[in-house]
Amino acid sequence: MKYAFVLGRVYTLSVAELAAVLEKPDPAFNLSGEPIKILESSPEILVIEATRPLRVDAMQKKLGGVIKILEVVDVVKKREADSINFALKHYFKPSVLKKQFFKEYKGKMQFGLSIYLLDLELLKRPSPAPAREGHKPFNNSIFSETRRLGMIIKKGLTETGASVRLVLPEFNALALASVVVTKNLLLQKGAEICILAGTDRVYTAKTLAVQDFEDYGRRDYQRPVRDEKQGMIPPKVAQIMVNLANAKSGETLLDPFCGIGTVLQEGILLGYKVLGSDINKKAIKGSEQNLEWFRNRYKISPGKYHVEAADARSVAGLLSSQKISAIVSEGTLGPIYSQYPKNAEIEQNFNDLTELYKACFAEFAKILPPKGRVVMCVPAYKKGPNSYEMFPSLDFMAPLGYNLVDIISPVLAKKMKFLRLTDRKTAIYDRKDQIVAREIVIFEKA
Ligand SMILES: C[S@@+](CC[C@H](N)C(=O)[O-])C[C@H]1O[C@@H](n2cnc3c(N)ncnc32)[C@H](O)[C@@H]1O
Repeated sequence: MKYAFVLGRVYTLSVAELAAVLEKPDPAFNLSGEPIKILESSPEILVIEATRPLRVDAMQKKLGGVIKILEVVDVVKKREADSINFALKHYFKPSVLKKQFFKEYKGKMQFGLSIYLLDLELLKRPSPAPAREGHKPFNNSIFSETRRLGMIIKKGLTETGASVRLVLPEFNALALASVVVTKNLLLQKGAEICILAGTDRVYTAKTLAVQDFEDYGRRDYQRPVRDEKQGMIPPKVAQIMVNLANAKSGETLLDPFCGIGTVLQEGILLGYKVLGSDINKKAIKGSEQNLEWFRNRYKISPGKYHVEAADARSVAGLLSSQKISAIVSEGTLGPIYSQYPKNAEIEQNFNDLTELYKACFAEFAKILPPKGRVVMCVPAYKKGPNSYEMFPSLDFMAPLGYNLVDIISPVLAKKMKFLRLTDRKTAIYDRKDQIVAREIVIFEKA
């Protein structure tokens, strides 16, 4: 069976998370742990071949970096110069549509159409179809393809006697946002058909699950306590980090800089027990209130978490008999800036954090099992669209007994040249409006 995963904006992290989850045996997703074959990949989408059917609804809820999960239906050859439309001209027959893409539905069907690119060059390369004499020049831009394809499919469906409504991406977009798929009930009342377009082939696919944007919003904005001053990690990113920790379901994770508890809540939702600590008593109170709200809202059984005030440099004392499997933490990024700070200030922040993290990691080594991971963020100051002042060196971890782990295996990184990895094979999560970005690092205790 072939599946495709639509990747989030920070696609390098999406791929890292997916690789970690797909490689781990997990009965909840029907994953055996045997290697998954990657068939195609681009910054937009990853196509895999699985030996057994995946439980996609469960997976979608647990992957912060995946926007949609699709089932690949067919692959159709395309000549390099052909438009997607041309390649699929004879494909969407009424019988194929009925059998492969649409469930029985009484009433007006809704369907949407999205194109994802396996080859981003297609954006630049309108197919060369010169205007025939006496005809208007044809709009060859790829952005015109969704409408034309949509009309072909609509015609096919109408021929089956169905009454249909077509939902298309907005002007200058090729794909429908997950919110549009959800709000239009496309998966309930029809389908979202996706075309994955490459240079010499196109895959046809149908959407099985989309990210629940409302629920992520709720987990972020509806919590009783928020802390704009210290900053909070977005739940999606916290989820990705927890997935990168490689712990087994039911084991215990620690966040020693837990703030108001975002990593803790996401850890619980992913099936772990969690311990949180923070030097700030007010943050701990916030965590307690948030987790109580979270427990009620998501019907979490008692005993899944514990939080306590403590300095991360002496957190081992808190744990006594508790065994933890991994540490997942945003950590502290130092001051938050609205304007790019002076170089001297950046240098000072890096020095302060190096001293703090040296002491913390020495402490973490006392409580982590061998091969236990620390997934954390360090600040990267954003100088330009893809340029950062990076944390100068993470070498101080080696004498403390840690190895820096590539966020994406070298084999995969070699295959996916488009990934945005730093020189030390970590990845950066940034936002347009933020000066202080998060470099996500994984350490493993030797
Ligand atoms: C960026 S905030 C973490 C926010 C958290 N990830 C969330 O989403 O709520 C960093 C936290 O580190 C805590 N902190 C700073 N120094 C600490 C230390 N030495 N030990 C423990 N916590 C510390 C701060 O009080 C703050 O709550």
